Amino acid sequence: MCGIVGYIGKQDAQEILMSGLRRLEYRGYDSAGIALLCEEGNPEVKVIKREGALSEGLEAALEKGSFSQSGIGIGHTRWATHGAPSDRNAHPHTDCHQQIAVVHNGIIENYSELQADLEQLGHCIQTEVDSEVIPHLIEHFKNEDHDILSAVRETVRRLQGAYALAIVDHSSNSSLIGVRQDSPLVVGIGDGENYLASDVAALLPYTRDVIILENGDLAHLTVDDVVIYDEDGVVIERSITHVDWDAEMAEKGGYPHFMLKEIEEQPASWEATLQGRIKNGDIHLPEITFTRADLETVEQIYLVGCGTSFHAGLAAMPMFENLLRMPVRTEIASEFRYRDPVLGPEVLTVFISQSGETADTLACLELAAKHGAQTVAITNVVGSSLSRKADHVIYTRAGPEISVASTKTYTAQLLVLQLLACHLTRLSGLLAGHEMSEDVRALLKEMPHLPQKMRDLLQDHAPIKEMARYVAGWQDAFFIGRGLDYAAAMEGQLKLKEISYIHAEAYPAGELKHGTLALVEPGIPVLAVSTQAHLRSKMSSNIEEVRARGGWIGLVTDLKEGRLIDMAQSVIFVPPTAPSLAPLLVAGVLQLLAYYAAVLRGCPVDMPRNLAKSVTVE
Ligand code: M6R
Repeated sequence: MCGIVGYIGKQDAQEILMSGLRRLEYRGYDSAGIALLCEEGNPEVKVIKREGALSEGLEAALEKGSFSQSGIGIGHTRWATHGAPSDRNAHPHTDCHQQIAVVHNGIIENYSELQADLEQLGHCIQTEVDSEVIPHLIEHFKNEDHDILSAVRETVRRLQGAYALAIVDHSSNSSLIGVRQDSPLVVGIGDGENYLASDVAALLPYTRDVIILENGDLAHLTVDDVVIYDEDGVVIERSITHVDWDAEMAEKGGYPHFMLKEIEEQPASWEATLQGRIKNGDIHLPEITFTRADLETVEQIYLVGCGTSFHAGLAAMPMFENLLRMPVRTEIASEFRYRDPVLGPEVLTVFISQSGETADTLACLELAAKHGAQTVAITNVVGSSLSRKADHVIYTRAGPEISVASTKTYTAQLLVLQLLACHLTRLSGLLAGHEMSEDVRALLKEMPHLPQKMRDLLQDHAPIKEMARYVAGWQDAFFIGRGLDYAAAMEGQLKLKEISYIHAEAYPAGELKHGTLALVEPGIPVLAVSTQAHLRSKMSSNIEEVRARGGWIGLVTDLKEGRLIDMAQSVIFVPPTAPSLAPLLVAGVLQLLAYYAAVLRGCPVDMPRNLAKSVTVE
């Protein structure tokens, strides 16, 4: 997804912008560009933009060109929504006279009406991109004698949609402007320099002190100062947040890929997630501040997310249901928001999102809040839109995740959901004057052992690599499981298809014979997950059905011996744990399986084609 960086200060802006853009590459993009305000005598803003990866396009173009050094500039990585990826459609976009340059994240919904009006006024729009109307509108208002701040303010009044903007103007060449509406933008505070970025990761080597802009904010940055205005031009105060992440946390640290590093980081990330939340066998989630009345009203729970975050909800749902004994549903955000679901104060809605910026998930939260439902956000990104809109926020504390494929943030989400299920059960038990239930007690006792179990599991990649070698030779694969093993299989198939480009499908094992079995041909890999003891015999029968058609069985199980093991061509063992926690350990195996299959097939593991890390459009 698109990324923004802006710089004003005494250092070389080009270098800082390029370093920031490299740090945003993980978000996924198809073209990139920068605009520099060069020293006096230069008649226009210098814009250099190219299709393709930074290393292929923009860096080469910058090496060839000779630009006088500048201390002010903006940069952008674009992930196309309107207009194909091309040099021309890349950002920054400029006005007719190349005096104003703008980079934009988001979508301008009314751009065609604005474009028609501007063309009537004689403006010449050069690209197919919605964002291009913005510099032309600013130019228009400047022509009407507005100063740059007021021209920007008038411009954003006319925009419908979502935007984070960074703007430079040749005639006011000692400042940089940022505006935010429904798309994240932060101001980085330096010493004699200041920054703009859509994502803190871009700024980590330079500053960890940031102002998280709110909707409607306009930030005016000079070398020594940052002033924030509201929509009416009134100066407002925004506090500075210190970010804990350091630059090294966002580096590969010697691993060939971020994904492998992030898989290996899971034991430490789970320790951070659990830190202070289980004490003396009891649970503490001070982030959840339900009153007695709030809790007593709840009759139904929705867990809502997209992609991997949806899968975390699927794998947590049975625990909520079993412990709380109330209806719990897991919902895909892009469907939920258009379904007119039953929502009200008696419904607790939990929104799951690594980035906290996923457009569909945010829209669901807004819908739930509008109907008076209680809202909880589970996210990894402090200050993200989701975290700011929900009644209660629980951070997953997984640290920055760079690889497009979610790994450590998925398991951290699942762990937080499981903590939440225990917490709500414990709270409602307390309200009814009950002791902690045996089920909750046992889970809270087992959770602190999970990081070590994952460490043990990740010690030996060899058998998983071996299984991946077989799977990598096929164009199709199936994943099967029952109950929680099916939920784990769903995430396994998504990982495999998104990074190795192998077509993969997950099925509840009992459902195979209702159609999909027709696709099982000799040798086809069928990855079977079996950790749920009460479903073991049923699972054996389903595996038999596959074997009878010649399917190749790769088994992931906590069972050390037995008929099930004998039926499989390849077996990966996971350490035994409480049945409802098993998907956490299975995730480690299926993530590595996908990783090695992708490496063997020569795929770009961290940046799979067509995908973005943060999906801020519908
Ligand atoms: O940031 P979110 O968790 O809201 O993102 C939702 C999905 O786009 C995301 O989980 C996606 O499916 C994964 N990156 C796939 O690994």
